[in-house]
Amino acid sequence: MLKEKLDQYLKENYYPFHMPGNKRSELLDQRLGYGRDLTEIEGFDNLNDPKDLFIAMQNKLAEIYRVKEALITTNGSTSGILSSIRAMTKDNKNILVQRSAHKSVYNAIELYDLDADYLEVRLDEVNAVKDINYQKLEKILAEKDYGSLVVTSPSYEGYILDLDRIYDLCQKYKTKLLVDLAHGSHLLLNKLYTNSFDVAVTSFHKNLSSLTPSAGLLINDRGLFDEIKRNLAIFQTSSPSYLILQSIDEMIENFGKFYDLYEKLDNKLNKIYGLELKNLKIIDYDKKDRSKILISTKDTTISGKILRRLLRDRKIEVEMAYPEYALLIATIFDINEGFDRLSQALVEIDKEINKKEFPRQVSINIPKKKMKIYEAVSSNKEKTPLDEALGKISSQYVYAYPPGIPLLVPGEVIDREVLSTISYFRTNDFDLNIDGEFIYTIIDKVNKN
Ligand SMILES: Cc1ncc(COP(=O)(O)O)c(C=O)c1O
Repeated sequence: MLKEKLDQYLKENYYPFHMPGNKRSELLDQRLGYGRDLTEIEGFDNLNDPKDLFIAMQNKLAEIYRVKEALITTNGSTSGILSSIRAMTKDNKNILVQRSAHKSVYNAIELYDLDADYLEVRLDEVNAVKDINYQKLEKILAEKDYGSLVVTSPSYEGYILDLDRIYDLCQKYKTKLLVDLAHGSHLLLNKLYTNSFDVAVTSFHKNLSSLTPSAGLLINDRGLFDEIKRNLAIFQTSSPSYLILQSIDEMIENFGKFYDLYEKLDNKLNKIYGLELKNLKIIDYDKKDRSKILISTKDTTISGKILRRLLRDRKIEVEMAYPEYALLIATIFDINEGFDRLSQALVEIDKEINKKEFPRQVSINIPKKKMKIYEAVSSNKEKTPLDEALGKISSQYVYAYPPGIPLLVPGEVIDREVLSTISYFRTNDFDLNIDGEFIYTIIDKVNKN
């Protein structure tokens, strides 16, 4: 669609007295896409108020993902999440959020001064986020009216929630469901996709073919469409990248071929999952996307971070490494050579290491909320030594990786339990975003005066 139109346009040889300033110049590095970097000139539509070309692309996307409407963005799932949450909480500022939500969800809570409650998560054996408690979800939904529920499925590591069940509950309790499907644009290919949501936001760049940070919004509730579209034009640049748009166009045009490519990927994955490993373990569940290769080093003599180094020594780059696992992302564009290299490396490394008992299951409780996030981040703060922080209100996020869940959110009370979790994580090689021995807390208004 966009590609053919642009090919034709370039043939017609118009001289560009318009943006972008690179003018498709041959003085510039031709490996970059200057020759096809375009802007909204006549006939090339306007992504923030589309009339033809982009409407056609969005309609095709809606068809592919079996939803009523779709929107394209060149600003990542981040802009889609900000836009959707704003629309969903327009008339009801109560929001229920899976605690492991992405930063953009917390940013939305702050930006729109939302009143957030959180849904605890269940962890797997390597402390990756695996699931939620569905009974607890129903109990919370029954007790309070929420404008929106935000869940993340799949998780970064590939665990899939039961969206059919969650959507049923949301309809029963009249709450709009937003699914952060950032890591799941490819789930159509391995049949783990379901269209059970009011809105889902997905990053095509993470697991499919289009350029970083292309993304899409999948919308089933038509009542939300206009408002989400209006918001997207606020959070998205007014100069969307036509290179990114061409890559989305190519993805849409080729989607049909991706199913065959997935079968080939599946064969490669079967070999990896079938490796006979004595110490390392590749985690595999029915409700887990296998293209997220989650390699547990738990109960071995090495950490996930050392596994990453050993793989790097063999010229293999992983997506992420934590104390108990390394995460590798496979897509339909992987080649046999990469998988051969990985198989050989894993077998070799597995032989070099041994078993070691290392029980370390963490549990993360959600502290009491004293203030909304916006109120907390706009209050005066001070740097407080951790051992003097008991009872104070946090003005910062404290994140632990894994499982990528905030231990503290601005406005929450620093209790004994969270301090002991922080201390445990600090001494056990978890990544914590904390400034040494200190934490930022809200200056007590009584003390200040
Ligand atoms: C769960 C989740 N949601 C949303 C995002 C944001 O996606 P994007 O990078 O496309 O803005 C990320 C990014 O990593 C993510 O992990």
